[in-house]
Order: sequence, then structure tokens, then C-alpha cells
Amino acid sequence: MNIRLVKGEWDSIECDALMIPLFEDESEQEEFASTLDQKLGGLLSELKSTGEWKAKMGQISVLYRPDQLSAGRLILLGAGERRNYDAQSVRSLLMRAVGQVKGYNLKRVAVYCRGHADTALSLQAAVEGAVIATYDGDDYKTTDRSPNLIEEILFVAGQDEETAKLEEVIKKGEILGEATKLARRLVNEPGNRVSPSSLAQTATELADKYNLEIEVLGEPEMEKKEMGAVLAVARGSDEPARFIVLRHRGAPESDAKPIVLVGKGVTFDSGGLSLKSPQSMEQMKSDKAGACVVLGAMQAIAQLQIKKNIVGLIPAVENMPSGRAQRPGDVVRSMSGKTIEVLNTDAEGRLILADALCYGRQLEPEYMVDVATLTGACAIALGSLRAGLFSNNDEICQKLLQASERSGEKFWRLPLDDEYRKEIESPIADVKNVGGRWGGAITAAKFLEEFVEDVPWCHLDIAGVDLAKGNQGLKGPTGFGVRTLVEMVSS
Ligand code: BES
Ligand code: ZN
Ligand code: ZN
Repeated sequence: MNIRLVKGEWDSIECDALMIPLFEDESEQEEFASTLDQKLGGLLSELKSTGEWKAKMGQISVLYRPDQLSAGRLILLGAGERRNYDAQSVRSLLMRAVGQVKGYNLKRVAVYCRGHADTALSLQAAVEGAVIATYDGDDYKTTDRSPNLIEEILFVAGQDEETAKLEEVIKKGEILGEATKLARRLVNEPGNRVSPSSLAQTATELADKYNLEIEVLGEPEMEKKEMGAVLAVARGSDEPARFIVLRHRGAPESDAKPIVLVGKGVTFDSGGLSLKSPQSMEQMKSDKAGACVVLGAMQAIAQLQIKKNIVGLIPAVENMPSGRAQRPGDVVRSMSGKTIEVLNTDAEGRLILADALCYGRQLEPEYMVDVATLTGACAIALGSLRAGLFSNNDEICQKLLQASERSGEKFWRLPLDDEYRKEIESPIADVKNVGGRWGGAITAAKFLEEFVEDVPWCHLDIAGVDLAKGNQGLKGPTGFGVRTLVEMVSS
């Protein structure tokens, strides 16, 4: 799919469909609306007077063969009230619109991004939304698919806008959109199609394509590094574990401290011997979402040629019950040397992250960020709008929140008070892998903190936001986190 900027008048763009946002509090007397109304022979005011068109956020109306426009269809996008119209509204509006017209056989779509004070910002968000929505996860349907047939999306800008700047943000939006799409596509792959080794294969292909360095540790190498916690989780599965290390060397000084991004890569989480119920197991192919987010982010980081050294770490395992599986009550020795009493084999994410964070710490990073579908408790606390954010460092936390402002992905900071530490004290080992019934997202984060020690760090619990719950017209995986990571490391 080709994405480009066109300079010119919105009413003379030749295309199969022209998309234009309109506002709820915009009267037909105002300049743009009245011009549009005239060009439509009064149809806009008619639709308004009958109540068919209110321009409520997300409302979409298709008008065919508008007489005085060069577009085959005019697609009105309801943008809600002007005062609420931010970059995230633009992004989700385009997600909805492009998602909706996917089956329409439109080849060339034009978008006139009007009504936002910051043209560059809104353009980037629009491109991201449009690109993200061109994937809808029906790859395995053999009938009744609605494939994306759009070949070209044109973004219309007025003659007086600065071309170079707008082309740059369009490129950035496309890269971030494609990276999010990669994460969405990978998360969507079922457990019988993506294993730890195939995830490593995908990472290797990504590295080849985008000029990243890659190292994949197999189980013998992991034994050598004494990654006892990752190996303990992998024991129950016939699929061997992999530990993926992706490197982007972008800093002018080659010895500059790296930024480390860690993603939980559980390709399927059955719970292990602490087996999940059938219903809570249904979505557990998505337990690799953190890993997919890191892969997407690394792709964008390479494409944007970010001038930093950035390392992506992915511990990849499948969590299964079997005669070889770890048992509740087992004690394992993690890479850091700390011992862990494994009381619940379904709290496996924190085990594999413990070793990955320890590996990351040995790289002496500037800071680390981990992304993980870690706890049901976080999903219960925050629902599907915001992800949980934990940090041992206010400055890094602030940096992440600023990146989140730009990405439109929302977070909420949760606490890490020392007093919570007693929840994970073990009578026989240094730490146990579960706390009590309450505050499960926090005790999980406290567990991770043990392995981070004094490295500035953020932990992102994406358990509630990794899959769309009808929000923004998306289906399936969201790719939540990709854009925030990229915005964070590029600031
Ligand atoms: N992968 C799950 C967390 C999860 C739950 C993600 C629901 C997405 C939706 C994780 O490995 C897990 O099972 N956590 C347990 C921890 C518990 C045993 C302390 C949980 O949240 O129930
Ligand atoms: Zn689990
Ligand atoms: Zn899990």
C-alpha cells in the first residue's frame, strides 16, 4: 500500500473515496461546511435536519457520486466536539473509517485531515490509524474474508503547508503503523503456528531485512548462562525455549549505554500444572504480546534510524503441563543467583522476565522497559483502556508518560511501596512467585523489581489492553505498546 502527501484542493482530488472529518458543533454557516453543503447541493444540511447526520464521534456516512467533487464517494467522518478532538481522536477515527471500508473495493482513498490545530501531529496520527486498520486478522478464513484492497492513501494538504515536514511525519506515521501491524499480526498467530523457535525465526528474518544484529540462544546456551527460571518454565513443553537478543546500533559513540526493551514471549500459556480453566485459556496464544510489541518496536527503530543503541530481549517459551513440567513448590535458581519458590506455575511470565531483566542489567543500560501480558489483576484494575505502569525511577516514568501522550496509548502508574515486598517473601527461598489474593499486578511488579535492582526501569503490564474489546473499531490484537516504546527511545 502506497501512502503519500498530495498538495491541492480537497474538492479536486481524483479518488474512489474522499474522507473528511466534520464536527458536531460545526454549523453549515461556517466556511468549510457551507462550501461542502453547496457542493453537495444542500444534502449536508438536509441530512442534519432529518437527524441522520450528527457528526458524533465515530459516526460514518457514505455519499455516492457527489456531483461537484472528483471523488467517487464522499465519506463523512463524525469527529465529535471540536474541543475534544485530539491526535488520538484522529487516529481512532481513521482506524474506524479504514476498517469499515475495507471490503468496499476502493483502490485509491484520499483523506483531508482538517480541524486540528497541529497539522503535523494530526497527520502522523491519521496515517498511523489508517495503516493499523488495514489489518483485520482474518488471514485464516478461506471464505467470507474482507481483504484490504486499498492500493493508495493520499493525504491532502493545503498549498501553504510545509511539504518536507509533512512528508517526514507521514513517513513516521507509516513506519509506526506498520510496526503496530506487525505486532498485531504476530499476536494473532495461534499457538500451533508460532512456537518459541518460530518466533526466533521471525526475529531473524526481521534482523536480516532491517539490518539489526541478532543472537538466538538455544537451551544449551541458556544452561550455560544459568537461566534457570526461563528453563524451568520451558520444561513442561516439547517446544524448546529460545532467548532472542536483537541489537540496533545507532549511537554515534559505539560504546554508548544501551536502552533495553524486554518482551514476555509465552507463545501459549496453559498455566502449566496450575492449569487454567478452559475459558481463561482461550486467549492465551496472546501471551506473547509483549514479545511482539518489542519486535514491532525494533522494526520501527531500525527504519527510523534512531541514534541510540537499543537492545531488544525476548525470552520465548511455551507453558505446558507434562510429566517433565515444573511443580508447584519447586525451587529454581534464576540467572541472578536468587532462588525462587514456584508456588503457582501459571505465574510464569515473571519467571522468564526475571532472567531477561538480569541479562539486561548486565548490559549496564541507561534504562530498561519491559512489556508483558503479566496479570489478570491488572486487566481487572484498569480494564481495556489503560495499561499498568510501574517504575522505580520518576524521571524514566515521566519520559514514558510523555511518549504515551504522543502515541495515544494510555497508562496508569501503580505503586511499588516497600511494604508490598513481604507478599512475596518465601519461607524457603529468596522470593516466591506469587503474593496473596489482593494487589496481584503490584506483587508481580515487586517480583520483577528484585531482578532489576538499581537500573532505572519501567514495567508495562498490558494484560488488559493487548486485545481489542470493540474499541476504535479494531478486532483482535491491538499492538498496544509499540508506538510508546518507539516514541520513548526517540525522545
Ligand atoms: N498470562 C497470564 C496473565 C493474563 C491473564 C493475561 C489474563 C491476559 C489475560 C499470566 O501468566 C497469569 O496467568 N497470571 C496469573 C498470576 C497468578 C497465578 C498469580 C493471573 O493473573 O491469574
Ligand atoms: Zn500464566
Ligand atoms: Zn502468562
